[in-house]
Amino acid sequence: MSRPKQNTADLAAALDRDAAKTRLAELAKTLAQANAAYHRDDDPDLTDAEFDSLKRENAALEAAFPDLKRGDSPSDHIGTTPAEGFSKLAHSQRMLSLANAFDVGDVTDFVAGIRRYLNLPPDGALAFTAEPKIDGLSLSLRYEDGQLISAATRGDGQVGENVTTNARTIKDIPQTLHQAPAVLEVRGEVYMSHADFAALNTRQQAAGAKPFANPRNAAAGSLRQLDAEITRARPLRFFAYAWGEVSEPLADTQTGALARLKSLGFQINNRTRTCPTVADMLAHYTRIEADRAALGYDIDGVVYKVDDLAYQRRLGMRSTTPRWAIAHKFPAELAWTTLEAIDIQVGRTGALSPVARLKPVTVGGVVVANATLHNEDYIAGRDANGAPIRPGENGRGKDIRIGDHVQVYRAGDVIPKIADVDLSKRPQTAQPFNFPTLCPECQSQAIREEGDAIRRCTGGLICPAQAVEKLKHFVSRAAFDIEGLGARQVEAFYLDGWVKEPADIFTLQERYGAGLQHLKNREGWGDKSAENLFAAISEKRKIPLHRLIFALGIRHVGEVAAADLARHFSTWEALADTVDAAAPAAQAHRRAEDAIVTERKDAADQTRRASLQPARDAAWADTPAPAKAAWDELTGIDGIGATVAVSLITTFQQARERESINRLIAHLEIETPKARAAESPVAGLIVVFTGSLEKMTRAEAKARAESLGAKVSGSVSAKTDIVVAGPGAGSKQKKARDLGIELLNEDQWLERIGDG
Ligand code: IVH
Repeated sequence: MSRPKQNTADLAAALDRDAAKTRLAELAKTLAQANAAYHRDDDPDLTDAEFDSLKRENAALEAAFPDLKRGDSPSDHIGTTPAEGFSKLAHSQRMLSLANAFDVGDVTDFVAGIRRYLNLPPDGALAFTAEPKIDGLSLSLRYEDGQLISAATRGDGQVGENVTTNARTIKDIPQTLHQAPAVLEVRGEVYMSHADFAALNTRQQAAGAKPFANPRNAAAGSLRQLDAEITRARPLRFFAYAWGEVSEPLADTQTGALARLKSLGFQINNRTRTCPTVADMLAHYTRIEADRAALGYDIDGVVYKVDDLAYQRRLGMRSTTPRWAIAHKFPAELAWTTLEAIDIQVGRTGALSPVARLKPVTVGGVVVANATLHNEDYIAGRDANGAPIRPGENGRGKDIRIGDHVQVYRAGDVIPKIADVDLSKRPQTAQPFNFPTLCPECQSQAIREEGDAIRRCTGGLICPAQAVEKLKHFVSRAAFDIEGLGARQVEAFYLDGWVKEPADIFTLQERYGAGLQHLKNREGWGDKSAENLFAAISEKRKIPLHRLIFALGIRHVGEVAAADLARHFSTWEALADTVDAAAPAAQAHRRAEDAIVTERKDAADQTRRASLQPARDAAWADTPAPAKAAWDELTGIDGIGATVAVSLITTFQQARERESINRLIAHLEIETPKARAAESPVAGLIVVFTGSLEKMTRAEAKARAESLGAKVSGSVSAKTDIVVAGPGAGSKQKKARDLGIELLNEDQWLERIGDG
């Protein structure tokens, strides 16, 4: 989070009244400008981290000099204006994002992975399309009976903003289609050409308005105008490259589907090619990269998509990206500048992350003032194993010091990094950076566990940085997603002392019921906005189990693990009971790991290595059977390993954390996951695949079973419903027999799920 110098006590000591007054005035102005740039102009002039840090500095100063708090104090400004203007529109099919490839190795891995998934031989035909990745913003257009009826931005992939009126002003978007499927959702990118961007900025400047930083921002700002006539005056364009819901297939191949979209009147990028081999894909990438500057619009890579749509269907998607496509990004852009400071931010799980504050420099058209420095080893010039990175003359890794001339590296929209240091320009006074061992936010010990590259604050919820980051995570889109309560608002509530932990969100209304006035007095707020906020909070009291698990912000429990856990346990109580029951096993697991690490240090030969099992057994010897069973259940869930299990157990065993979770649960009505296909014959059943499968790969079998509502587990227990055994199945098959569990071969399984 913030810099150590923003600590209240330090500030009070460091600034006298006059200096504090001047600084508060500066902060009020800067933060008001930043709010307007962010909300009104769609053109942020500060990063979120900078904004947050200034806001905290302001709050700390106000705490130190309460009588200097200004009438227009930024603390009284909630941040976003409540969502207004654009209504929300749910996508009938999720709008996906793309996984990235950064080099040839990533591309060949992607293709090899697809072959493995589909079980295709290395020389079996597998064609791809290759097309430019347009640097704009994606839009989904819905046509019914040939009429454009709605247009929505991507939003969080599930719900976007309804920009139908604005989309109708874009010339590349047909209003009417002839001989189109009855329902057709066309997806593509809204962008602005270089020439139109330059002309728009000239007009902006002539009118005394701020120019846009790049064509992408200009396109986004223009599409999201509340007045559609302004959008009409902005020269936006649209390339179609994908589709959502369709009432009948467009074609059998991606190439055919694009041709069909073209015949319906859409613009298809003329650099799209069908590539039969990986060599063709890479050759096309090289051609597009060479022509990049001459295209007349911004692109940031090449997108490859499996051409055969039947394969695309089989490959399906991961949580947010399809397995059948990848974006091959252009190489990073580089620039040199001075490292002015290193700040330490504290994250949700207590991780101390060093951030480079740079003399601003333009890297590939974007001004960069901050970059990540990853962790203390990275600053010191070594990797997690102690091996040198950025080797210098003596073979040791070059360390990074404040005052150094550093190389900034930016690839697409990824956070910029510091890649290199120019030692010849190092100031004589530059000192090696001392990474803090105390948390800069709460002064608790910050420790590094063996094998972890990250140093973490041990303060837990007493650490304000962790508490705020946890709250931000709690309200984020994939978690509780409370309308009108974003990261900035929840932080403002925290600073005011109104919301210290998630449970407090749900008591806001009753605590401040009488004092709705507090909210009302805030700039941009009135009774209506407060009521809207409370209504939005109330709506989220009913929450799906997987969202709740994700929202808790437990280390290693991301969206996918949360969904795996929710599917397996169905209820919060079942999850909590099993995690609690497994607690003694976590200790046994740790003892076993320690014993193994110790043994492994001298286990030079195979014989000694074979002797690890007794050490493991000894560590587990005293673990009660119910704890072992609960541990096996947890770690037997597909996708959940010992790391997640230990993290869940550790969190649940920490009294403060647990009490905080319990206080939250008391306000909620937790929804049990619905079997995704209730009518499917395997919905809700626990299935184990073992042995080799011949008609599909293990990954495909798992994805298919899960899409039919089954739970796939890695181990057989009394709870298992079906074991699908292929040739070579061993102990799991035997255990299934012993336990009397239904055993199927691959063909019988396919027949059961209707694929036979
Ligand atoms: S395909 C299911 N093709 O890149 C695949 N996306 O980084 C959906 N994009 O959200 C996307 N050019 O906004 C596809 N030729 C192209 C694209 C493209 C730009 C954008 C799109 C997507 C983002 C992912």
